[in-house]
Amino acid sequence: MLKLLMAIVIAIGFMGCGSSGSKKETVSAVETVKSTEKHVGELAYKRHCNACHQKDAGGIPGMYPPLANNKVISGDKKPLIDIVLNGMSGEIEVNGEKYNGVMASYRNLSDKEIADVLNYLRTGFGNSGDEILPNEVKELR
Ligand code: HEC
Repeated sequence: MLKLLMAIVIAIGFMGCGSSGSKKETVSAVETVKSTEKHVGELAYKRHCNACHQKDAGGIPGMYPPLANNKVISGDKKPLIDIVLNGMSGEIEVNGEKYNGVMASYRNLSDKEIADVLNYLRTGFGNSGDEILPNEVKELR
């Protein structure tokens, strides 16, 4: 009975959507995909980066560099992807503050997770950079 009900609901749903493949529906489908990617990026950030770089990406002065308003985040894709794949260490200066810590490699994340988390950072927090594709991460592995 439940299955039958679900089948009817799904059928009605399809009838509603399938009536006209108008441009508006295509655009909103693309937007849904984009917002899903953003959501995945946000989740990956919360799961893997948050603890050090903080929720607002402001970091902790002298310990964990901010990823907000950060030139490396907005900059060339290759060095940025390389940091996430291979980690980094050594002295750096970010927004006038020095850091000399160690960041581990995050190559256990999928190509898509790495792309999504970096795009999440590149499209907010005062940063701006063009989109990183999962394939570009794959090439640098
Ligand atoms: C355990 C703490 C920790 C976690 C978790 C962490 N990082 Fe880092 N991250 C650091 C430290 C420390 C540095 C600075 C390393 C240095 O001083 O050379 C850094 C540096 C960076 C830099 C370079 C910043 C710059 O201006 O050069 C980027 C980009 C970065 N992290 C991204 C990420 C992303 C994305 C994640 C999540 C996938 C992440 N980090 C998770 C500790 C962490």
